Amino acid sequence: MNAPAIQPNPLNAGRSIGAILVDTGKLTLDDAERILRAQKEHGLRFGEAAIQLGLVTRADMELALASQYDYPYLLQTENGEVAGELIAAYEPFSPQVEALRALRSQLMLRWFTGEEERRTLAIASPARGDGRSYLAANLAVVFSQLGEHTLLIDADMRNPRQHQLFKLDNQQGLSSLLSGRGDLSMIERIPSFVDLSVLAAGPIPPNPQELLGRPLFARLLDEMVHEYDVVIIDTPAAADYADVQTIAVRASGALLLARSSSTRVSEFRELSKTLGQSGVAVVGSVLNDPLPVKTVRQQS
Ligand SMILES: Nc1ncnc2c1ncn2[C@@H]1O[C@H](COP(=O)(O)OP(=O)(O)OP(=O)(O)O)[C@@H](O)[C@H]1O
Ligand SMILES: [Mg+2]
Repeated sequence: MNAPAIQPNPLNAGRSIGAILVDTGKLTLDDAERILRAQKEHGLRFGEAAIQLGLVTRADMELALASQYDYPYLLQTENGEVAGELIAAYEPFSPQVEALRALRSQLMLRWFTGEEERRTLAIASPARGDGRSYLAANLAVVFSQLGEHTLLIDADMRNPRQHQLFKLDNQQGLSSLLSGRGDLSMIERIPSFVDLSVLAAGPIPPNPQELLGRPLFARLLDEMVHEYDVVIIDTPAAADYADVQTIAVRASGALLLARSSSTRVSEFRELSKTLGQSGVAVVGSVLNDPLPVKTVRQQS
């Protein structure tokens, strides 16, 4: 694994590596004691002593180190751990990712204010290829970089993409859960990131809309908001399927996306209106340009 390049995070900078490893369940307090003794005896650094004693792996240490810092990012390689489209992971200082962080701040102010009923956000847009999956995935990454306990759900059971972006196998996922063939263990923690988990869409079912309408979906989201600070949901194209209505109503909030020079204003307005009429809070809209996120403005 590539060592993440790191920048200081004022929130975590004061916490010791030992405390982070204990808090994340990688070490017990007894183990930490043993390491502290070995550290003193042999004049080692905490991490070196922990690895020498075989109590943590180098990967655990890298993650703990990364969580002390704000923007752990990955070095792009041919067979990267996640797809190159996750620019928030690979190009954290690019203007595109600056724009994603600005969007994150807006969403923290306008939507993710801590209450459980404001922890879930569906990413919606009218047409295929608008960039919903791209935005959902990169937003999830920037939220996790801020230290938010983040879950990304691929609720596009028509053309699922998140398993490709995060290089997961899609044998099981939301469709399996909703059809009663699986449990929450299929939510995968993505080791390259500090605090990001993904629920893939699972095998494409014959009846996505019916599955999303089941009480089980609402129950799943209720459970997830107890578990996570931020839950981002990828959805199918609104003009092709009504799934997004069902998803956004359950999520209670939606972020709308338009693709520069391709989204029709009429379709975009229609989507915004229909969601609003169903009681969904349309939290804002984003214009996806060749440079990803251009603007965000609040809907009136
Ligand atoms: N801002 C961007 N910069 C660069 N590439 C982008 C951007 N937005 C989207 N793309 C690319 O455009 C393609 C379509 O994007 P994406 O898959 O996110 O669209 P979608 O709305 O989820 O489409 P679908 O209907 O297939 O689910 C992808 O190859 C994606 O990487
Ligand atoms: Mg998609």
